[in-house]
Amino acid sequence: PGLTANVTLSPPLGTSKCAPHSIIIGVRKGGTRALLEMLDIHPEVAAAATEVHFFDWDENYAKGFDWYRELMPYSYPHQITVEKTPGYFTSALAPERIRAMNSSIKLLLILRDPTERVISDYTQVYFNRLENHKPVQAIENLLVRSGALNTRYKAIQRSLYDLHMSNWLRYFPLEQIHIVDGDTLIRDPLPELQKVERFLNLPPRIMSSNFYFNQTKGFYCIRSEGRERCLHESKGRPHPAVNGTVLQQLRSYLREHNHNFYRLVKRSFDWQ
Ligand code: A3P
Repeated sequence: PGLTANVTLSPPLGTSKCAPHSIIIGVRKGGTRALLEMLDIHPEVAAAATEVHFFDWDENYAKGFDWYRELMPYSYPHQITVEKTPGYFTSALAPERIRAMNSSIKLLLILRDPTERVISDYTQVYFNRLENHKPVQAIENLLVRSGALNTRYKAIQRSLYDLHMSNWLRYFPLEQIHIVDGDTLIRDPLPELQKVERFLNLPPRIMSSNFYFNQTKGFYCIRSEGRERCLHESKGRPHPAVNGTVLQQLRSYLREHNHNFYRLVKRSFDWQ
C-alpha cells in the first residue's frame, strides 16, 4: 500500500494573497476563460484558479472578504491579482458589492455577438445535462413558446447586454470597465490582450509568439514558459444549426438591445 502524505506546501517566499486588482466580470460564454488564461501569460499577473462566485452568490458573500481573499492565488508584490466569475455581469447585486470592496477596481468585460452567445450558452447547458443523464431539448423548443420568442429563456436574458450594463454604470464610470471584443479575441487574440495590458497599466509582455493556431481545435492555443496548451475541450465546441426563422426572431429581438448597449458604452460592435 502506498503512503498518503498530508503535505501542506508553504507559499513561495515573499508572496501573499491579495484582493483582486481586476475582475473579469463576464459575460458567461464570452470567452472569459480564454481571456484569463491569456492574460496569465503576463509575468506580472496572478490569476485565480477557479471561479469564485463571491459577489453573485449570497451564501458566499455572507462568508466575508477574508474568505474571498483566501481563494486568491499567492502573488509577489509586483504582480496584480485577477479573478474571473462570468456570473457577475448578469448579477443584480454584484456591482454594488464590488464597489463596496474597491471603488477604483478595474473591471474587464468580454462580450461576443449576443445571438452567438445564446447558442453557446445553450450548447454548454446541453452538454452538462447529457453528462448528468438529464433530458435535453432542441434549442428551438427553448427559444420559442407558442410561436413567439421565449424572452424569459435565461440564455436570452443573459444576452440583454444593455440591461446588465446599465446596472454596472450605476456603480462604476464607463472608463473603469474595459470591454474586450470576444469575437476578435477568437480570431486574433494579441491586439485584444495588448489593449488589456494598457488598461491595466501593465508593461507590454504578451507577444505573438505566445499564441499559435491549432488546426485540430480550430482555435488559438497558448505557448508560455516552454509549454503549449489549448483550452479545455468544453471551450470551442461546435454549435447546433438553428432554424433560420427562429434565428431571425432572436436576432431582431436583440437588435434594439444591442443598439442601446452601443449608446451606453459609446462604442459599436458588428453584431448581427
Ligand atoms: P464556444 O464553446 O461556444 O465556442 P467562456 O470561457 O466564457 O465560457 O467562453 C467560452 C468561449 O470562449 C467558447 O465558446 C469559445 O468560442 C471562446 N474562445 C475564445 N477564444 C478561445 C480559444 N482560444 N480556445 C477556445 N475557446 C475560445
